[in-house]
Order: sequence, then C-alpha cells, then structure tokens
Amino acid sequence: MSDIRDDVVEGFEETYGYSPSGIWSAPGRVNLIGEHTDYNLGFVLPFAINRRTIVALGLRDDGILRVASAFADEVAEVEIADLSPERLQGWPAYPLGVAWALAQYGADLAGVPGVDLFIESTVPVGAGLSSSAAIESAVAVALNDVWQLGFDRATLAKVGQLAENKAVGVPTGIMDQSASLLGRGDHAVFLDCRSLESSLVPLGFEEAGLQVLIIDTGVSHSHATGGYAARRASCELGARTLGVPSLRDLTVDDLPRAQQILDDETFRRVRHIITENQRVLDTVIALRETGPHAIGDLLDASHISMRDDFEISIPELDLAVETAQLNGAIGARMTGGGFGGAAIALVPTEGISRIQVAIDGAFAEHGFGQPTMFTVVPSDGAARD
Ligand code: GLA
Repeated sequence: MSDIRDDVVEGFEETYGYSPSGIWSAPGRVNLIGEHTDYNLGFVLPFAINRRTIVALGLRDDGILRVASAFADEVAEVEIADLSPERLQGWPAYPLGVAWALAQYGADLAGVPGVDLFIESTVPVGAGLSSSAAIESAVAVALNDVWQLGFDRATLAKVGQLAENKAVGVPTGIMDQSASLLGRGDHAVFLDCRSLESSLVPLGFEEAGLQVLIIDTGVSHSHATGGYAARRASCELGARTLGVPSLRDLTVDDLPRAQQILDDETFRRVRHIITENQRVLDTVIALRETGPHAIGDLLDASHISMRDDFEISIPELDLAVETAQLNGAIGARMTGGGFGGAAIALVPTEGISRIQVAIDGAFAEHGFGQPTMFTVVPSDGAARD
C-alpha cells in the first residue's frame, strides 16, 4: 500500500506541479450476503476489503475543481459553480459527481476553495468489488474534510449513491458506498437499507482458520444498461402488484399469496428478495451466536436463489461456485450485481490452493477464459491517511 501512496503523490506532483496537502483512501467491498436487497429497502451484509482507492488533494485559491488519475490521460476541469450532472462525462463523473451531490445534500459550496485531485486504485474494475464506490467514498471524505462540511458517514454514503445514480447514471442502491464508508477490520456492515441504521458484525474468519477467496471470472458487466435495471423494474412491479411500498415489507409468510397473484417470473424475482432478506438476518445471527463456520449453507442457498429465481448468474459464476463447493469451500456464491464479475468462496486456509487449481482446471475444461483469484481481508472503511 505504501507504494501506491508514493505513486499517487508522484502522479499529483507531475500533473499539477506542486505537492498535495493530504491523502484520503476508501476501500472496495465484498458483499457477504444480501444481493439486490438494497434498493428493495431490505438488509445487506457487505464488508470493506484490503483493496483501496487513494486520493491526493491540493487546495486552490479559486473555485475550480480538477481531477486526474493514473488510469486516464486527460485532466478534467470544472468550475464549482457550474457543477451539474449533465456536464459530467466519462470517469470524472464519479469524483466530480460527488462534489455536485454534496451540494444537493445541503452543502453550501459558494465560498469553498477549489481543489485538485489525483486518483489511483488497487480495486479491480469490473470485478463486482465496487471500484466506483471506492472512488466516490474517498472523494466524499476528502471534500467533507477540506471543505469542513461536517456530514456523517451515512449521509456521505447517500451522497456517493446520488452521484452514481444521477451523475454517472447507474440505478444502484446504497450498499456499496455504505460498506466503503462504514467498514471495519474483521467486521461486516449489517445495514438496514430503509432506516439506514447499521451495526458491525464480527466475522472472525482468521481466528476460525478461514479466508475469503475471490474468483473474478473476467466477464465484465455494466449496471448502466440491461439486466440490473430490469431486475429493479421487476421488483417494483412485484411490490406494486402486492400493494406494498417495497418488497422489504413482505416475509416468507406472504409467498403463497404472491404466487397466486404474480406471473411466474415476477414471483421468482420477489421470492429471491424475500428469502434473501431472511438469509441476511439468519447470517447475522449465525455469525454472532456460532461463528463463520455456521454460514456456509446460507451462502450456498443465496447463490441458488440468484441463479434460479433472480437469474443474474452466468455459467462462469455457477462453475466457480460449484467447483469451490466440491473442493472444500464451506460456502460460495456470486457477489455483487451479477451478469459477470466475481464469486466468493469461504475456504479453510489450508485448502485454498487445491480450490484454485480445481477452478483453473474446470474453467479450462469448459473453454472459459482463465479466472483471476485472490484472497481479501475484511478491512477498515474510508479514512484520511
Ligand atoms: C451493485 C449495486 C448495489 C447492489 C448490488 C446487488 O453492486 O451497486 O447497490 O444493488 O449490485 O446487491
């Protein structure tokens, strides 16, 4: 990590010709369980990971925002007074969208100084590990500090989500930014996406001799178009037809009625959300009362529900999950929005290499591209470094 901080400072100095006044960072996340439940105002249980986005920031004496990064050539520039979602394009929409969103939440940006930002990241893009939320959260904490806005973390999560929804144009929920801002080492963030109340749940993976293996299929996904928005629309249709404000308001007791009223596809979408909410609650209880060895079946059941009811898995993710399960994982599931990206497997430390070899072999046998595998550690959320 120290290397990347040096790179960021160097990148900043080369781009802007002076030294930054501070460095902030925010992590990507893995969702342990609770998929597509966030925008249905239900429950999620993600954790922040040891892959971070780093932001170096320098103050200016005018009202201009500039943003540059190691992964893009251009330096984007905008006057704070001119910030609007329509003017933001390409990747700068993430950091600059955050500045715009802060104002939407009541920040008075009239007198604040301009800033120069330089951004670098170790969160892989397109793997379903929320590289975008890591950028938003790092920029949100940095601007909140230097502009002395005084927003709490829960509000900064909403700011990041608004930037993503309106400036970037992706209809995602509140989970990723919450994990990135509220995460803590060795803990998951248990979030009620309706009240936005959260608590930390001890994971204890290391103590239990377990690790979380990420299997990135390399199949890239976009939530701006297609499946993600379609699933959201199905959930909204289900809630409307069943006469509730959101699917959060239903439990497994409502399933028989839902099956009578809804068409088969909408029913299966609704069943995923209802049962997934219950699985999150059950996982929290299992972790608190028994420990991580008790959550394997819940992870497995979550994957089956996403594969068969919500239909957001792909053959590569199914193969990764099944192969991990057959080779000693105590539980495995795809993670994130789906249609590509990564699966997670909860694996006994001594069994990791066997599982990796098995997954590599299975992918080759099926003619799939080679997956990228690495372990992640539950880590602290966004901070000034
Ligand atoms: C993406 C979105 C999240 C959430 C997940 C699915 O990661 O950004 O808000 O909806 O998909 O659980």
